[in-house]
Amino acid sequence: MLSRRDQCDVRGSASTEAGPDRRATERLGTDEAGIARAASLLAIGGLVAFPTETVYGLGADARNAAAVASLYAAKGRPRFNPLIAHVGTPADARTVGHFDRTAVALAEAFWPGPLTLVVPLADETSVCDLARAGLRSVGIRVPSHPVARDILARCGFPVVAPSANLSGRISPTASDHVLADLDGRIDAVVEGGATAIGVESTIVACLGGAPILLRPGGVSREAIEQALGHRIGSELNKSGAPVSPGLLASHYAPRAAVRLDAVSVRPGEAVLLFGPNSPVGVDRSATVLNLSPAGDLTEAAANLFGFLRRLDSSGAATIAVAAIPPLGLGEAIVDRLRRAAADR
Ligand code: TXA
Ligand code: MG
Repeated sequence: MLSRRDQCDVRGSASTEAGPDRRATERLGTDEAGIARAASLLAIGGLVAFPTETVYGLGADARNAAAVASLYAAKGRPRFNPLIAHVGTPADARTVGHFDRTAVALAEAFWPGPLTLVVPLADETSVCDLARAGLRSVGIRVPSHPVARDILARCGFPVVAPSANLSGRISPTASDHVLADLDGRIDAVVEGGATAIGVESTIVACLGGAPILLRPGGVSREAIEQALGHRIGSELNKSGAPVSPGLLASHYAPRAAVRLDAVSVRPGEAVLLFGPNSPVGVDRSATVLNLSPAGDLTEAAANLFGFLRRLDSSGAATIAVAAIPPLGLGEAIVDRLRRAAADR
């Protein structure tokens, strides 16, 4: 985050120091003044969280290595994972990366929206080495959320934005979640309400060969396959989860342990349900939330991270999770729950 001196001096560069300069995180509105303040903080190397249609992102100027370093520090990332560069328009995206025919087709079908394309880097000054973790490829996304679009339009440079949570914790789908993790560690948060989709973007690599699904997310595999007219492969690790460099097996972790595919509930467990059927043994004292009583996977994705936070704050040692079908957005939900349940 910025030091006090930097905040007063628009020519200043970002401080990577924590400690004496720590100050309250500004709460910004989504009006003209809030957007202008967000963009000017980003332009001087500040860290600003803002809503996207998937989850809240923690933004920094993609060109500014000092700002990106302070972003990793604020999140407490264990290592430098490549970040997604957010841009305002598909035309901006094509100045940052090289788009092959597949990438063009996917961008036309899903941008603006919850899709990230990993493509060969075109302009290395647009996204600094540190933000790419030294890779020659770059992840790019054009978000559809009006607040994100307003900020990006006003900035005019790519903004890297990982999810605005402490590393390894549950992704934020509301500004309260951002502040719970990052208050005092970042310069500002734009308070734009709850995010509509609730899981992160789908990541597809288009690096010359066949496209590869690196992370299931807000655009379903089925929708991507329909746009391309053929099936798409995943890069899988030994436990069958898609891999993207920097995707830790244990991620999205609540403090409580997570027990998947629960068909019965044990005393003292908090419970996360899906659909009309309950596992046996749910007692009245347990904290129970249903991602979607009607069995709607879109509704379930939107509720996922907020409900995990609420169940975690109930103080239960374990969260029992009912089975969720891995179809459509269910693939992303199951992926996140597997990571939440992984050994830590
Ligand atoms: O919905 C989202 O994608 C959110 C919002 C804020 O846009 N962002 C997000 O960022 O989820 P993050 O940093 O939590 O996840 C970025 C993922 C990481 O798993 C990273 O490995 C992958 O993108 N990634 C970025 N650049 C890559 C590259 N060049 N090659 C492979 N994977 C890459
Ligand atoms: Mg994340």
